Amino acid sequence: MSMVKNIVLIGFMGSGKTSVGKALSMKLNLPYVDSDGVIEAEEKRPISQIFEEDGESYFRDKEIEVIESLSERRGWIISTGGGVVLNPENIFNLKRNGLIFYLKTTPSVIYNRIKDDSTRPLVNVSNPLERIENLLRRRTWLYEESADYVVDTSSLTIDEVRDKIIKIGGKK
Ligand code: S3P
Repeated sequence: MSMVKNIVLIGFMGSGKTSVGKALSMKLNLPYVDSDGVIEAEEKRPISQIFEEDGESYFRDKEIEVIESLSERRGWIISTGGGVVLNPENIFNLKRNGLIFYLKTTPSVIYNRIKDDSTRPLVNVSNPLERIENLLRRRTWLYEESADYVVDTSSLTIDEVRDKIIKIGGKK
């Protein structure tokens, strides 16, 4: 695995970006950062509260700033929020020093992983499955366009996804 490139994980909420990112970090002995975590630390409040108090567009502006600064790093494992692909400049920035992997998953897998989680404002609605299907329908092409590699994670464990990424990255 090239030490200079970052490994960037994109994908929908619940696609395993955080777990896979941490697993990659352990195995490759590279530092890990999660852009949502940086936003929460800088804002000193959880994402759900940012959405509630200042709205989604405030969050998106903050996300652009944080992604721009994280993109300067080299040799990091970076996991991103599910909506990072909505702003093309995020992808432009992340690509400068990074290889982007899209963790692709089905709506039902996502639903099962996040249905009891109240920290995700976009799916904290009365019919989350429908909302997930809707968002995925609108976003899938963006994830696919943005990615250097698409990894279908539906039937894979976290460690299998990790090893697949290492194998692909090792050839770069
Ligand atoms: C979002 C996904 C979240 C977080 C925010 C918006 C989205 O990140 O950035 O709630 O638009 O899909 P995760 O993908 O880590 O849940």
